[in-house]
Amino acid sequence: MDSYRGLRVLHVAGEAVPMVKTGGLADVVGALPVALNGLGVDARVAIPGYRHALRVAEEMGMRWLPGNLTIEAGGMDHSLGVAEVMVSGVPVYLLACEELFARDGVYGPTPASDYEDNARRYAVFAKAALALPGFLTWVPHVVHAHDWQAGLVPALLQRGWGRSLPATRSLFTIHNIAYQGTFWHWDMKLTGLNWSLYNPLQLEHFGKLNFLKAGVVFADRVTTVSQRYAQEIQGEDFGYGLDGVITSHAYKLSGITNGIDHEIWDPSTDPHLPAHYSHRDLSGKRICKQHLQREVGLPEDPNIAVVGVVSRLVEQKGIDFILDAVDPYILAGRMQLVVLGAGEPHLEAQLRNLQGRHADRVCFWHGYNEGLAHRIEAGSDLFLMPSRFEPCGLNQMYSLRYGTLPLVRYTGGLADTVIDVASGEGNGFTFGPMDMGHFSAVLDRALGLYQYFPKEWQRAQRRAMQADHSWARVAMDYAECYREMTWVER
Ligand code: ADP
Ligand code: GLC
Repeated sequence: MDSYRGLRVLHVAGEAVPMVKTGGLADVVGALPVALNGLGVDARVAIPGYRHALRVAEEMGMRWLPGNLTIEAGGMDHSLGVAEVMVSGVPVYLLACEELFARDGVYGPTPASDYEDNARRYAVFAKAALALPGFLTWVPHVVHAHDWQAGLVPALLQRGWGRSLPATRSLFTIHNIAYQGTFWHWDMKLTGLNWSLYNPLQLEHFGKLNFLKAGVVFADRVTTVSQRYAQEIQGEDFGYGLDGVITSHAYKLSGITNGIDHEIWDPSTDPHLPAHYSHRDLSGKRICKQHLQREVGLPEDPNIAVVGVVSRLVEQKGIDFILDAVDPYILAGRMQLVVLGAGEPHLEAQLRNLQGRHADRVCFWHGYNEGLAHRIEAGSDLFLMPSRFEPCGLNQMYSLRYGTLPLVRYTGGLADTVIDVASGEGNGFTFGPMDMGHFSAVLDRALGLYQYFPKEWQRAQRRAMQADHSWARVAMDYAECYREMTWVER
């Protein structure tokens, strides 16, 4: 299908798979442009040329384009090299700058900390991304900026920075409003924007320069990554202080629920798995379960429920609820728990402690491990996401596709994608109020269904596996959105 042929879109983001990933943003920026390409859109991507990202791109046949971009920020010039790598037919440009991006971390030295010069790093990145079309002599109709790292892009574009893209429109997508990129006011000097914009209606937010707010205020359209989250962020509980800003720009806001990459996440072909399966024949899943138990050092018992978690270990994800609730179920021999993740030191310490207390029933695998993430999705029976808030969440969709029933808090994208089995047609388990009692009750119900109603469980698994959350469908909504914003005709 090529009904959107002729439409040119530049995605600008802080991360994209396979070059660099700290969370779901990278999955989205890696997959959406490919799906847009499938619709005939000329979609390209700009990300910072972090050291690790350049290394990965090099292995994929990256080439340096001739010339450099020189970007000024606060009286200092930065020279950026532009490397191009093709990812599933999509050109990805890595904007490399020794003093800003040649570091071991992405946003900070550890996942739980920030680099002190992030305002400079992402101000320079935003300007360089807008200088890229001139450099390539390729003018996009739409610049699609993602999250705070690209928040200055709509502002710079709207204020005519660089003067080279007068007809280009901007779409800003909020993947997580809890991360806003806030900096002290003197960093305004780095942005190249007029000080008059530093006011509460535009770039200032409670005495700080706010990159995410810049994106929301100046973009032509704003989207978030699920329909429910688009509603939630207009209220105090989920707006992280920006609910007023979101409400006053709600006229240009909509929610488009993310998709997942059906090729990377396919239990019938996944190269990370020891066996393959589909909704027609689930026997391979039993082998995956046994293999997972062996891999993480837990007893190979086919009857006990294996409960999986793959997550950034941060407050958002409700890991504390898991820590508080699971002891009785583990002690009663009703579940094994496998957790993969890294993040806040106090959560890591408590997970280690839980493992210490139940060495034969709990495995905490600390760190980042792509292959193990796939094997947990395939080898688990149940997958936990008791998130306090979840803009979209991808793991619950991976779980659905792998026939691993997700147990989720009814919020954001989790509410948009998981239907409780109590409805008779469900594909997982949901709970509402964020308290231990509700979480514990739904865990009890899920383990009960697993243990005593295997037929019912299998029916839910089959329904889960047949849901279509492919990017191909979701990309249409974005393409439609781009077209509405521009003059391009079908
Ligand atoms: P968020 O972006 O808030 O972290 P998402 O559910 O959207 O949440 O996306 C998380 C992504 O990161 C998923 O692809 C998940 O598999 C992956 N992930 C998170 N932690 C790890 C880890 N420790 N090892 C491997 N993959 C991980
Ligand atoms: C953010 C959100 C997550 C979402 C991801 C991709 O990291 O926390 O819910 O799935 O972005 O949009």
